Amino acid sequence: MKKVTISKIKKKKGKNPIVCLTAYSKTIAKVADKYCDIILIGDSLGMVLYGMKSTRDVKLQTMILHAKAVKDYTSKSLVVFDMPYKTYTNKFNAYKNAKKVIRLTKCDAVKLEGGKKVANIIKYLTKKKIPVMGHVGLLPQTSLNFKVKGKDLSQQKKILDDAKIISNSGVFAIIIECVVENLAKKITKSVSVPTIGIGASKQCDGQILVIDDMLGMSDYYPKFVKKYSNLKKIIEKSVKTYSKDVRLRKFPSKKYIYN
Ligand code: KIV
Repeated sequence: MKKVTISKIKKKKGKNPIVCLTAYSKTIAKVADKYCDIILIGDSLGMVLYGMKSTRDVKLQTMILHAKAVKDYTSKSLVVFDMPYKTYTNKFNAYKNAKKVIRLTKCDAVKLEGGKKVANIIKYLTKKKIPVMGHVGLLPQTSLNFKVKGKDLSQQKKILDDAKIISNSGVFAIIIECVVENLAKKITKSVSVPTIGIGASKQCDGQILVIDDMLGMSDYYPKFVKKYSNLKKIIEKSVKTYSKDVRLRKFPSKKYIYN
């Protein structure tokens, strides 16, 4: 399988839908690599794996550990590292942290949340040859609530302007999170780079979901999540059966012992 490159991703705009998922572990990375163009080590791992209340508590070191596991078991997909909260407050600490991330994990790119406020950081990182993915709409690191964005015209204008600014600052793709369909359409038409939607309709150039959500492993499901499995149920059933087997001394049976 040929490695997905940033230029291949850019060429897909308006032509072939870009398939993306988050991954935090070796097992998921190996499967996702077969089917995805982009794998994101999202800071959503703070909430889905560690039970944190928000992504703001995620540490760079935690992300690095998970990113190494994912990258080591990925050969084809483009692997993007989500920079955690407060690791890119100015262009200098953004560069220092992103350089460390790329050196230690060998990820292909980093992702930053925000528009105008991070434009100079994006310019600086791309000038220093660190590819950057953008993220507009609902911004989990700074949003106070989980509400759909772009319902009113002033918010639409701000998000559209932010997307245009970061597109012109050098991002190779933009995640659009949780916005109304007509805003996703406007952004996708107005920027030269591919847009990747999460809760942003079919109007985007690609789609991403949080892996635990689409596998049915989460506690909370926003409207935009389609559950492709119900792993929680499967896990529950397996653990329940195991506990019964142990209590009834049915496990381990002959098959599972050494003589
Ligand atoms: O952290 C994450 O998983 C993300 C996705 C929601 C795009 O940023």
